[in-house]
Amino acid sequence: MTTRKILVTSALPYANGSIHLGHLVEYIQTDIWVRFQKMQGNEAHYVCADDTHGTPIMLRAEKEGITSEQLIARVWQEHYDDFSEFHVDFDHYGSTNSNETRVSAETIYRTLRDKNLIEVRSIEQYYDPVKNMFLPDRFIKGECPKCGAKDQYGDNCEVCGAAYAPTELIAPYSAVSGAKPELRNSDHYFFKLSADSCQQFLRNWTRSGTLQTEAANKMQEWLGAEGENKLSDWDISRDAPYFGFEIPDAPGKYFYVWLDAPVGYMGSFKQLCNKTGLNFDEYWLPQSQPESVMDARRQGSGDADIPLGRQGAADAADNADAPSVTATELYHFIGKDILYFHALFWPAMLEHAGYRTPTKLFAHGFLTVNGEKMSKSRGTFITARSYIDHIKNTEYLRYYYASKLNGTMEDLDLSLDDFVTKVNSDLIGKYINIASRCAGFIAKRFEGKLGNTDTAACAEFQEAFTGGEIARCYENRDFSRALREIMRLADVANQYIAEKKPWELAKQEGKDAELLEVCSTALTLFRDLTRYLKPVLPKLAAQVETFLNIPPMTWNEKWVALSSGHVINTYQHLATRLDPKLVEAMVAANQESLPASPASGQGVAAQSEQRHAVHQQHTASIEVAQAEKDFEPFISIEDFAKVDLRVAKIVNAEQVEGAAKLLKLTLDIGEGNSRTVFAGIKSAYDPENLKGRLTVMVANLAPRKMKFGLSEGMVLAASGEASGLFILSPDDGATPGMRIK
Ligand code: MSP
Ligand code: ZN
Repeated sequence: MTTRKILVTSALPYANGSIHLGHLVEYIQTDIWVRFQKMQGNEAHYVCADDTHGTPIMLRAEKEGITSEQLIARVWQEHYDDFSEFHVDFDHYGSTNSNETRVSAETIYRTLRDKNLIEVRSIEQYYDPVKNMFLPDRFIKGECPKCGAKDQYGDNCEVCGAAYAPTELIAPYSAVSGAKPELRNSDHYFFKLSADSCQQFLRNWTRSGTLQTEAANKMQEWLGAEGENKLSDWDISRDAPYFGFEIPDAPGKYFYVWLDAPVGYMGSFKQLCNKTGLNFDEYWLPQSQPESVMDARRQGSGDADIPLGRQGAADAADNADAPSVTATELYHFIGKDILYFHALFWPAMLEHAGYRTPTKLFAHGFLTVNGEKMSKSRGTFITARSYIDHIKNTEYLRYYYASKLNGTMEDLDLSLDDFVTKVNSDLIGKYINIASRCAGFIAKRFEGKLGNTDTAACAEFQEAFTGGEIARCYENRDFSRALREIMRLADVANQYIAEKKPWELAKQEGKDAELLEVCSTALTLFRDLTRYLKPVLPKLAAQVETFLNIPPMTWNEKWVALSSGHVINTYQHLATRLDPKLVEAMVAANQESLPASPASGQGVAAQSEQRHAVHQQHTASIEVAQAEKDFEPFISIEDFAKVDLRVAKIVNAEQVEGAAKLLKLTLDIGEGNSRTVFAGIKSAYDPENLKGRLTVMVANLAPRKMKFGLSEGMVLAASGEASGLFILSPDDGATPGMRIK
């Protein structure tokens, strides 16, 4: 019997945003798989970390008036707490900003350099002369060179969809300071991915069964035909100021965040090794793979059955070819948007730096909510925290995601109605009810003591345990199929109870023995269902183990029924129905009427830049799901009535020191107190000319804390294709505070 040694990772979430339901698809998927491996008796280690480097994090910290280190420490705690609530059980959760990651990144870099795979080239890039920094594409805005739309990002136009270089933008400005950027030269460090050795290695690696079919096809597209050498070199350096690791022997040059991010897998694992005495090299140095793993790889679909540890080993016990050496396995769970980094850059780096390459990459699709991209305006951009606050029971979501995940790269939909239905009809209706209907009799009538079980009724459950079908589904990440099979068994159990009618037996004289047998049998079946669901519902399973008074269940033991005379504990209710009102309240709480305040541009740019960096590498080939405000064709009159528009008198208008686009306005809307609003209209108005004017403001916009102070509303201004910005004025006779409707 062999115990597999498995190292598993999920992608490292960026430290510049909260964990949301989209992220959780990945972490829940990975966690279920790892728990399953551990239940099999395999040695599995699950590591992850926050991805902490890059310009957006640096700028955000600056904006909040704290250091980058302070920001990432705070976010680390938030992420860690969110994951814990969702029972995502990392063996170690680190940070890329660690000494271990730095050392590994430097080692890899030096080896690549010594192999002549690093090249220095001078490139021309936009520079912000006010902020004194080179600008990533996402921090440059201007007019689209194709359609002329204003305020478009440096890489593509959100109005007409055109893709271009930042240098093509008309009237570019820095999204950081508002200044006009200048083109400057700078030396950048490139990883020579175009080298023959890289392309050839990747070609072979892609075909070796390490990828799902869809991913392997994508790779073929990126790599091009044999001899076509489509890959270009990868720019791995950024200039100071940058929050990251300085490149050895290159003062002022930093590793681009995506260079050290995957190295964070190693860094985090190294920290685990330091904690537990595990051997780092055993998992990261090249090794001879046992035949079984090689076979699985060769099957090529990427979804081949890998032998099932002890469970599978039971079948293979007398197979003379069963592997005798245990090579370690390395798996990365990732979203399809970051396949490029994990399937090209990362294995090429590892291979040429003398490390092992991943056994497999498991890429998943993106989350949609009610069939559409997560959206703030629809209230479906839901953070982990908001889910916890409203719904509390995080295993409901684990169950739902599991019921949807099938191990492919297809997108996955969280239909909120279906979510409620599935939780209530399957989880509560079919599964929990088995225990709640039978447990009471055991406690009341038999002093908590079980009797004999009905062997025939248990046969199918026993067969499911030893037959391994559910285990095979888990192994192949086809969780939806595993759950369908488990629910089919739950139907069988419910049918048994419906036929035996314990509630009627309980009323009849002389039927005690039968009643005891039925309830003992039902509870054995309930135990088995719990075992099968345990990777998905770990907390619930632990509660059931306490209730049934049994040791933690694994997949690595002989099946026996709960024995006669075994004493169970009093049944405490395990889970309640999910009230759809809680889901409604959660959506309502997340609904934002996002105003397109000119001053808010920077924050939005900062948030999407890192995610967008992915996009630049392989532009249109992969969709990047971004939660953004979406426009719907109509709103209701009630929607409109939510906006409290008022006539406002500009009592004072002044320049704001250090702000490129803002004026500070003091507005009277007849409330007694005046309101302060920072408006992005500096380019169009001299403050002196504004004083005393009437205009229109949104009075119930949530106050926004800005670098320069609190902004308590928004004034409305018109702008269009032509240049210019025009604030609104009411007709003569209107007075401050009048409602506009
Ligand atoms: N920091 C990088 C990963 C570096 S790995 C060395 C990153 N971070 S992320 O926070 O943007 O995303 C983390 C993971 O969550 C990625 O695998 C990403 O695909 C996944 N998801 C983020 N949003 C998602 C959805 N809406 N749906 C499904 N998965 C999503 O990328
Ligand atoms: Zn355009």
